[in-house]
Amino acid sequence: MLPRAQLIRIIVAIVVVTVAGSAILLQIDWMPVAGSKEAGPIDTMLDVMIVLSTFVFAVVIVMLLHSVYRYRARPGDLSDGEPIHGNTVLEIVWTAIPTVIVAFGAVYSAIVLADIEKRDPGRMVVKVTSQQFAWSFEYPRERIETTELTVPKGRQVEFQLHSKDVIHSFWVPAWRIKKDNVPGIVTRAFVTPSRLGSFPLICAELCGLGHSTMRTRAHVVEPAEYKSWVAEQQRKQGVEPGAPPGAARRAPKAPVAGAALAARGSQVFTAQGCASCHTLEAAGSKATIGPDLDRNLAARDRAFIRRSIADPSAEIAAGFKDGIMPATFAKLPKRDLDALVEFLAVSTGARK
Ligand code: CUA
Repeated sequence: MLPRAQLIRIIVAIVVVTVAGSAILLQIDWMPVAGSKEAGPIDTMLDVMIVLSTFVFAVVIVMLLHSVYRYRARPGDLSDGEPIHGNTVLEIVWTAIPTVIVAFGAVYSAIVLADIEKRDPGRMVVKVTSQQFAWSFEYPRERIETTELTVPKGRQVEFQLHSKDVIHSFWVPAWRIKKDNVPGIVTRAFVTPSRLGSFPLICAELCGLGHSTMRTRAHVVEPAEYKSWVAEQQRKQGVEPGAPPGAARRAPKAPVAGAALAARGSQVFTAQGCASCHTLEAAGSKATIGPDLDRNLAARDRAFIRRSIADPSAEIAAGFKDGIMPATFAKLPKRDLDALVEFLAVSTGARK
């Protein structure tokens, strides 16, 4: 056992390192500006964890430095240390302390989680669909779809997360909420935005070559502005404002062709996330994960474009590897595929 004076010095050193370390670390803004009601308890928990981790760091570093200094070899001392065969009390202590810390962390996190996920009966629902490498948002009650998220301030939103291909992760750092989108199941995240503004919405799960480009924005607006935004979207997307939730959108009056078909193809291009991988002047995209469409399609025909979308492995553009483009576009509804082919043919000047 250590002499009493030494033990006191060690304990004092641990307290000093813990207090000084925490004081420094708590000064740093680790997170972006807090934009949701949930951010408060989460940031408080982060602060508590910083203090706890600093304490563990202090114990380890003080004991390490103490041992290095105290038990150093004096000049001329060639002896080996005494053989030690375990110390039951010490082992119980160093098992018990981490157990208490981890158990505290678990209980505390569970309490915070239950608190921030409390369902508000007046909440709204947004379905979030992720796919390589794009986000889309469906407002089932309002019957609109978008590629950027817009939500009102001060109302809880239940995000129902879906994935069409691999695991992605829905993350808005300002809201502190991150949850995986897992193929085959629906996961849910609950957020009450509390700050107006436009915040990055990022995929936080490595999901393929375009992972780093898989980002969009979350706009938080005043409730009145949200209402007029919804009305505007409903008008643009051909939704009857008075119709009950779930009612079908207005059907196009006649089969679309030519310019109208290409215009719809432009929407398909955006909704399917093509812009996150391909350069196409008509869509304003400059991504380089896949072939440049302006350059590669100009001398081609519609049959080639169609095949390249439905079966990307059939012919690989020079300088690209097979398997980069998801094969899932073969499952696009025929009218969407037709529209997309028309849009690409028209905008790149393909031959026929
Ligand atoms: Cu989707 Cu990373």
